[in-house]
Amino acid sequence: MAWIVTFPLPTDPSNPSRKNDRPMRIGVVGAGVIGRLRAQSILRHSATELAAVMDVAQEEADGVAAGTGALATTELERFLDADMDAVIVSSPPHVHEAACVGAFERGRHVLCEKPLSNTVDGCRRIVDAAFAADRVLAVGFNLRYYPAIEFVKDTIDAGRIGDLDHLRVFGGHEGLPKFRIDWQYRAPESGGGAMMDVGIHMTDVARYLMGEITDVYGTMSESVWNVPGSEDNAMAVFRSPDGISASYHATWTEWKGYRFYVEAYGTLGMVRGYYAPMRNLLITQDEPGGPTRTRRLLYPGIMIRERLKSWHSTALLSFEGELRDFLAMAEGRYDVRLADGYAGLRSVEIAAAVRRSSETGALVRLPALGRMRG
Ligand SMILES: NC(=O)c1ccc[n+]([C@@H]2O[C@H](COP(=O)([O-])OP(=O)(O)OC[C@H]3O[C@@H](n4cnc5c(N)ncnc54)[C@H](O)[C@@H]3O)[C@@H](O)[C@H]2O)c1
Repeated sequence: MAWIVTFPLPTDPSNPSRKNDRPMRIGVVGAGVIGRLRAQSILRHSATELAAVMDVAQEEADGVAAGTGALATTELERFLDADMDAVIVSSPPHVHEAACVGAFERGRHVLCEKPLSNTVDGCRRIVDAAFAADRVLAVGFNLRYYPAIEFVKDTIDAGRIGDLDHLRVFGGHEGLPKFRIDWQYRAPESGGGAMMDVGIHMTDVARYLMGEITDVYGTMSESVWNVPGSEDNAMAVFRSPDGISASYHATWTEWKGYRFYVEAYGTLGMVRGYYAPMRNLLITQDEPGGPTRTRRLLYPGIMIRERLKSWHSTALLSFEGELRDFLAMAEGRYDVRLADGYAGLRSVEIAAAVRRSSETGALVRLPALGRMRG
């Protein structure tokens, strides 16, 4: 058995995909916890500028724009008319659509936080607007940039566990005590419960690793927190057109505290990505039943940084990775980790499919989407 201890590399602030000297001017909608981090990622990148900040609370917009020269406003139309190339949407999910569609109507690229919208129809309208404007739509599934998930993806793609057979994905936390604000758990705004919260990330991780999800069978319950339309627990089985399956569990009753993991099993081994703390496990063999090799990866640098600067510091690094790929996509390069609009749409469709399957007892079949471009 080998133990590998890894330290995060400093991020490269330059943008290798930059074609000309003009920075990309980006506006941020929603200046809360995530919007502040998104704005920081823009300010830390040498090829981007913070152009404008919009929030329904003027003091929040002012706080993020302070000292940057960016416009700070409570008016969406005024914000959208500012001189900028792209918009990052980090407001609550039920108001994502207005900001995304308005941005596309003005020819901006959009990076929207998860979930893309609180409804499937809202997601579809955002995707349609992106196609109509011929602009990039990316979705903030930033767990793709967590080193433990990057390791799982790269291990599968390198064929180190043989042919992928199935996944186990899990995401959960303690539920209602975790939330700061009502919209975060109330279905009319959030779109649902555990599946639309931590679970939406894990739906995306599953699809990211499996290639596509077309078949969904699931069950869910609301018996603990009793918030109408907001499931406490959802369990499901997903299947890809290639016959790869995933078991899925999203929960708001994980009394042990916030955590997520994915385990991928192939013909020659398995790989696990876990958080928090960040870690990996890899078991490989040359033939089924042969001697196994085991590697464990720990990330003490991340653990220490999070102890000093909280999980926000890890989220910020992931947002910087997303921003670099967003610029690449805007220049026509789609061979990146960044999730596109179809990933955002499919994850919300899957949450709706689990709900439908739970009600009817039947499997729900969805048409394959693939990627929007590239
Ligand atoms: N990627 C991640 O890891 C992650 C983590 C947490 C939240 N999120 C997502 O980020 C988004 C924001 O979450 P948060 O935790 O920052 O929430 P928050 O409540 O801290 O911030 C939301 C901000 O949006 C503002 N707002 C409300 N309505 C608005 C509107 N119509 N237009 C503009 N601004 C408006 C609020 O005043 C607030 O300042 C949500 O979509 C959430 O699901 C993503």
